Amino acid sequence: GSGAFVPAVVVGTGYGAAVTALRLGEAGVGTLMLEMGQLWNRPGPDGKVFCGMPDPDRRSTWFKNRTEAPIASFLWLDVVNRTIEPYAGVLDRVNFGQMGVYVGRGVGGGSLVNGGIAATPRRSYFEEVLPQVDAGEMYGRHFPRALAMLRANEVAADWFEQTEWYRFARVAREAAAKAGMRTRFVPNVYDFAYMRREAAGEVAKSALAAEVMYGNNHGKQSLDKTYLAAALGTGKVTVETLHRVTAVRREEDGTYVLSVDRIDAEGRRLARKEIGCRYLFLGAGSLGSTELLVRARDTGTLPDLGAEVGAGWGPNGNVMAGRANPLLHPTGARQSAIAATCVDDWDHPAAPVFADVAPLPAGFETGISMYLAVTRNPERGTLVHDGATDRVRLRWEREQNAPAVAAAKSFFDRMNKANGTDYRYDLFGPRAKAFGDDFCYHPLGGCVLGRATDAYGRVAGYRHLYVNDGALIPGSIGVNPFVTITALAERNVERLVAEDIAR
Ligand code: FDA
Repeated sequence: GSGAFVPAVVVGTGYGAAVTALRLGEAGVGTLMLEMGQLWNRPGPDGKVFCGMPDPDRRSTWFKNRTEAPIASFLWLDVVNRTIEPYAGVLDRVNFGQMGVYVGRGVGGGSLVNGGIAATPRRSYFEEVLPQVDAGEMYGRHFPRALAMLRANEVAADWFEQTEWYRFARVAREAAAKAGMRTRFVPNVYDFAYMRREAAGEVAKSALAAEVMYGNNHGKQSLDKTYLAAALGTGKVTVETLHRVTAVRREEDGTYVLSVDRIDAEGRRLARKEIGCRYLFLGAGSLGSTELLVRARDTGTLPDLGAEVGAGWGPNGNVMAGRANPLLHPTGARQSAIAATCVDDWDHPAAPVFADVAPLPAGFETGISMYLAVTRNPERGTLVHDGATDRVRLRWEREQNAPAVAAAKSFFDRMNKANGTDYRYDLFGPRAKAFGDDFCYHPLGGCVLGRATDAYGRVAGYRHLYVNDGALIPGSIGVNPFVTITALAERNVERLVAEDIAR
């Protein structure tokens, strides 16, 4: 293939990657970002960049024959998913045997598809999970900087209290209060000022048109509008899209050589390239960064990688559940697709739960309160390389989610008891099931800080090889994770630019 050399390569364009590229660019380091997904800036035949959730087309999904929405059924009817052509769509569900992992594909990674919830973890839990990180510095500098750069903002309380679009969240707050649980606002990167103008009919609707998981056409301040725009603005950073890194090796002189497949949006391979660099930063996410390293270790291209690579993976204790509301407490046919509140019961001694009050913007009265619960589950999985398929496999048994389900059950049982309500059993597949516990939105770990790497993401055994994304966080952080991934990446790259990069 064609060869090229650049000073630094960043694999991926999600949170960790975007932070890394910006700070490298500011330091004057020529940096090439390689992203397997597309740049989402061109309208399709319908005039929209992204397709909506109610009637998804091929733009929704990364190379599948059918969409794979998390809430696939309603009254056990398969009403949500659609048959589609395989395409380089924006949302992927990586299906391991016992766990489906949702990830974003495209320039901006998870920021294109996620709910935008910009939560900062409880300091005491952060200190427990990442004891080698100076929490004073994180909470004093890096978290505030991350929140500002990401443009996190909160819904205005007066508007929240009266708008029909957040009736579902007020109903959920009342149910929580009856069980003695505290609901609070949670920041989001969706521009709430824009949302209010949507409600007033002044601008095109996005959050108020049920857009979220397959991309937002307006309003969301995803990474392409924040960190990545700033990174490109340094003039030192370039991005190549539809470039999938397949392998990494190291030459005698220390050059890292990446094997890269360039594909088109229909999945045809257009070229195989080799790209050399002096500094290699992996920001391909928990699954992506870990996959590259376990493959390199087990195929012998980076043989000095240790046994910690692949270990310490977890789904951040994710469990989804829906409650059936009494008829007298309608959640409303109109719901913003962007969450604005959470029920914070993390201080519960036996069953700590942080639950996002999730919208279910079906366009009709569902009578459902939906939640994504983040729980504290000590179980961990391991990512391993499968020599037969050359893909990564996840060692994770369904039973390992039992502690997460137990905590969620304790939490929602208390809420149901106080309100005389019950679970909805028809949302998570063909059989009656109260909890969505076989998929997650928050994959974390695989190259854990201080174990597979040093305290700043330098990969053990290899100079100038770094991980700087969700793979560093050991499986759990107690809230939605992207603010932590961003702040930790800021902390790490600041140190690496100061100490490792020759200028
Ligand atoms: P991230 O996954 O963002 O980026 C990795 C990038 O690398 C991707 O663009 C991928 O295509 C690319 N890549 C991977 N392998 C590659 C390879 N071999 N070659 C080239 N490119 C490669 N979090 C939160 O805090 N609040 C929220 O509201 C939500 N909601 C939410 C909803 C949904 C539907 C999802 C799927 C996820 C969330 N999340 C979330 C989770 C959040 O989006 C996630 O934690 C971060 O995006 C992870 O950031 P990273 O930088 O680790 O990687």
